[in-house]
Amino acid sequence: MLDYGWLRQEFGKRFAGEARVFRAPGRVNLIGEHTDYNDGFVFPVAMDREVAYAVRPTADRSCHLYALDLGKEEQFSLDAMSWTPSGHWTNYIKAMAKALEEAGYPCYGFEGVIAGDVPIEGGVSSSSAITVAAAMTYEGLAPWECEPTKLVKLTQIAENSATGLRGGIMDQFTSRLAQRDHALLIDCRTFDYTLVPMPPMTLVVADTRKPRSLATTAYNERRAQCEEGAKTIARRYGGVTHLRDVTTAMLEACRGDLSEVVYRRCRHVVSENARTLECVDILKQGDLPALGQRINASHVSLRDDYEVSCDELNSIVEIAWDTPGVYGARMVGGGFGGCAMAVCEPPAVEILQRRVAAEYNPRYNLVADVYATRSGDGAGEVLAG
Ligand code: GLA
Repeated sequence: MLDYGWLRQEFGKRFAGEARVFRAPGRVNLIGEHTDYNDGFVFPVAMDREVAYAVRPTADRSCHLYALDLGKEEQFSLDAMSWTPSGHWTNYIKAMAKALEEAGYPCYGFEGVIAGDVPIEGGVSSSSAITVAAAMTYEGLAPWECEPTKLVKLTQIAENSATGLRGGIMDQFTSRLAQRDHALLIDCRTFDYTLVPMPPMTLVVADTRKPRSLATTAYNERRAQCEEGAKTIARRYGGVTHLRDVTTAMLEACRGDLSEVVYRRCRHVVSENARTLECVDILKQGDLPALGQRINASHVSLRDDYEVSCDELNSIVEIAWDTPGVYGARMVGGGFGGCAMAVCEPPAVEILQRRVAAEYNPRYNLVADVYATRSGDGAGEVLAG
């Protein structure tokens, strides 16, 4: 959690008047990986780490912003915006205004400061946090309100255009609508969602710190393979539009129609959807060993069938699997780097930190960042006082 008093002070050093503060968190996904863009199910948690904007509106659609963590200052006008999909921090803010305005929600320009404690490039969706916080800012400063799931959809459009990644809906949805002490089951087809209370459990994030090269290309390629799979299966089973509609029996019946690679991609998605739904009742019952078992199976499937893991992620996950007090561990998010997470007993956190430092860091010549995280609330305005 950020120090909002400090953020308001930093605003006061650069601008006159009172700031309003809008925030949005990063996420950790318990289970349901690479299922969102297949119209499937995901079961994430918002983190207690976030991005926050302290701002006030401008009269002329100009934006003047300081990114405090980066020590960078930028100015642009909402009337003259351009960017190339690179992930530059202002891209998210520009793309958000564009998506809102194209959907009929006019935006004010704003000036202010931005800060965050979501690790950047750390596999916990700092990019969604910055985009969703921008959406909350535009909405907060404007006279209109946007239905939350509609805002989520526009945030996804914005983020995809800022980065060039054909990402799904999970990260923005979680950042906007999660609640502390709950995991969020999202039906990525209907946008129905259920908040499921979490039993006491410790969540650990282990950021590999491995630079993610080619991740965007590989992600988009996986998505295309899933689309190809669904299309082929639809030839036998009318009504199939996405892998969400496919059962294991249907997939097996179509095995001969699919290339070996596409078959394995589909098998991951079909099995991951089933595991995700199983985990809802498991979490309600507080059965952490059963949850851990599904989480481990998810990793194996992502590693072998979906092939989005890497040596660094596998190494951290294997260390976690071998650590007493860990119920389960797996890679999280898009893959090819980023982070892994583990569900464990509180004493396991320190053991994991020591073991990763001793075994992983020297092996890969990287310094992994291993930390416990609590669940946090979805995005909103932080009221003063
Ligand atoms: C990235 C995307 C999400 C989702 C995950 C994989 O985080 O932004 O939409 O597809 O990868 O589950």
